[in-house]
Amino acid sequence: MPEQHPNYTEDQVNLDPYSLPLSDFDVANPYLFARDAHWPWFRRLRDEAPVHYCADSFFGPYWSVTRYDDIMTVDTSHDVFSSEPTIVIRDPIEDFPLPMFIAMDRPKHDEQRKVVAPVAGPENLRNFEPIIRQRTIDVLEHLPMGERFNWVDKVSIELTTRMLATLFDFPFEERSKLTYWSDISTAIPGMGMIDSEEQRKQIMLECLEYFTGLWNERVKAPPSNDLISMLAHGEATRNMGPVEYLGNLILLIVGGNDTTRNTMSASVLNLANNPDQFRKLVAEQGLVPSMVAETIRWQTPLAHMRRTAKIDTELHGQQIKAGDKVVMWYISGNRDERVFERPDEFIIDRPNVRKHLSFGFGIHRCMGNRLAELQLRVLWEEILKRFERIELVGEPERSISSFVHGYTALPVVVHPRTS
Ligand code: HEM
Repeated sequence: MPEQHPNYTEDQVNLDPYSLPLSDFDVANPYLFARDAHWPWFRRLRDEAPVHYCADSFFGPYWSVTRYDDIMTVDTSHDVFSSEPTIVIRDPIEDFPLPMFIAMDRPKHDEQRKVVAPVAGPENLRNFEPIIRQRTIDVLEHLPMGERFNWVDKVSIELTTRMLATLFDFPFEERSKLTYWSDISTAIPGMGMIDSEEQRKQIMLECLEYFTGLWNERVKAPPSNDLISMLAHGEATRNMGPVEYLGNLILLIVGGNDTTRNTMSASVLNLANNPDQFRKLVAEQGLVPSMVAETIRWQTPLAHMRRTAKIDTELHGQQIKAGDKVVMWYISGNRDERVFERPDEFIIDRPNVRKHLSFGFGIHRCMGNRLAELQLRVLWEEILKRFERIELVGEPERSISSFVHGYTALPVVVHPRTS
């Protein structure tokens, strides 16, 4: 039986957005993204209602900000738009709020971010590169050549889980627990993984128990450069309560996992679908970093970030009231024709490729952006050394979510180099 979103239907997917009144638009419907049908809805909003109010949705009323410049304004106006109580369109569950620094304002945000930021800083990245390369080679060399397999499971999930285990210095053989907790924390009840919020809470408490054991070990040991040790010894984090510890763990697990995983899958999908761009990359391998940035723009692994207005304000002629929910659709800003020429095309040497919004801007700009780029660069350097091409042998399956923009399956056959 196909999975169904308990609060939305697929009906909207088959509608023509140009035949509907703008007042009927609810672009948060997860099926729009799962069926890759959201693009014309956002194009119409950008052109005709760049700051649009949806008065009624499963997530409550919300504003959609869809043009590049307006998104930039919201993302960098920290005194007007708050990241509290959450950065996703869905409101927090009242009896189990998980505090995490991505959903905090200054000054607490800055203090906590400072503690963990070095994990993805230049020195750690230099140390990580050989480990990442070794693991990438190991995964690629064990792929079944010439046979059909799911790239998402065998490569994208495997590599990002290994990376997470390294960041946390987590027991390596138990690393699949990290993927499981990451998936549970973003799962929608009734869609296969969990049946209720209560069940999610139980599993998250098991996650906390496991990590509390690791915290107790690290707190007794001298400080080291893994994330748990950093949190356990950091001045702004060592006295955190258990729920705040759990919240920040989930942030670091999800932040580093789904996003990079889906970028890896998107790079394979795009290079298979655009043979001219693949040929360009093979001919000029120095384009790998630019191809990685273009994939991150094109995919936009997190479709949105939400803010809440702190005060009454005006944006693009619209009056936003204190307390209103404001959704920055990065996925739309990255396709804004006013900033990116031929935005729907995948062009690996685009001149302004680094201008994309996928990592956000302002004080919450992604803390792991360099690490994600490093993992992608190493993956493609090693792919180009070994494989003639990666052939797509079926349609990708997409996540049913208006937040995590990604894939659950990407059927491929890998062809080794013959020379
Ligand atoms: C392609 C991969 C990635 C994408 C697209 C991505 C995207 C984002 C976005 C959109 C934000 C919020 C920006 C804002 O609100 O302005 C963010 C924040 C964050 N990301 Fe990433 N991310 C990626 C990889 C990673 C990795 C590998 C890590 C692991 C260290 C990570 C850790 C974080 C953290 C901790 C924050 C919160 C920063 C803060 O609130 O100050 N991300 N990311």
